[in-house]
Amino acid sequence: MTDDEITIGDRRLHYLIEGDGAPILWIHGFPLGGEIYQHQLSIEGVRHVVPDLPGFGRSDPYDLPEETTIHQYTSDLLGLLDALKIDKAVMAGLSMGGYVAFDLVRVAASRLLGLILIDTKEAADDDSGREARMASIESIRRKGRTVEFVDEMLPKLLSESSKNDPELVETLRSLMASASVTAVVSAQQAMATRPDSTSLLPEIPCPTLVVAGREDVITPPEITERMCAAIPNAEMQLIEGAGHLPPMERPIEFNAVVREFLRERIQGEGQS
Ligand code: MLT
Repeated sequence: MTDDEITIGDRRLHYLIEGDGAPILWIHGFPLGGEIYQHQLSIEGVRHVVPDLPGFGRSDPYDLPEETTIHQYTSDLLGLLDALKIDKAVMAGLSMGGYVAFDLVRVAASRLLGLILIDTKEAADDDSGREARMASIESIRRKGRTVEFVDEMLPKLLSESSKNDPELVETLRSLMASASVTAVVSAQQAMATRPDSTSLLPEIPCPTLVVAGREDVITPPEITERMCAAIPNAEMQLIEGAGHLPPMERPIEFNAVVREFLRERIQGEGQS
């Protein structure tokens, strides 16, 4: 495994690389880090690239969190692929990572070998969603800490059975708690101002796997079904017993659907 970083301006962007084969870029959700994909590194026949988005994991935050956009994350990830001399990759994004993956479709469609949309949605925030994010930014800034925010969000990420898995809950809590105030503010700002991607769905040019936990309350299965129906070359899989984080909650089942997608739709179709 390679554990390394690139420098963008004066910021360090940390990433892991594992395996050989068609590249797959794993983009994590909020407020997490590349660590959510630790169980996916065992998927064979691909070259896993697992960054920490700015401010999360071991990557430095942006200087101006209140001005962060999803597109900044996209630019950093394209910079990472360029630095690694990866022309095309399967882009896999979970929730906020999916918002970034949509932006990659928007600005770099020719670099997609395939797309894996995990517990994410195409719609932008509505007014009340945006207001809730702004209120959480204000509250986190005022308190100077994220602990209450983490406590409130954590149960929404997990299925009922996952909530009864103390090891998983502890791993998730410590991952969420490691996100700095700056990182959380940045990501909330970026998500609040993200564009709607509904009109992009029929334009997605590559094989697409749309996958979600059956018990996800943040992006429920109706959203996953709606997205899959609008993407020309897509298939859908729901993971039983998982909530918003199937790669962590049900890694065996999640990896099985990813392996099948890669084998049937990606591997053998050529790569850079
Ligand atoms: C995530 O899991 O990345 C976030 O819950 C997405 C969101 O807040 O819209």
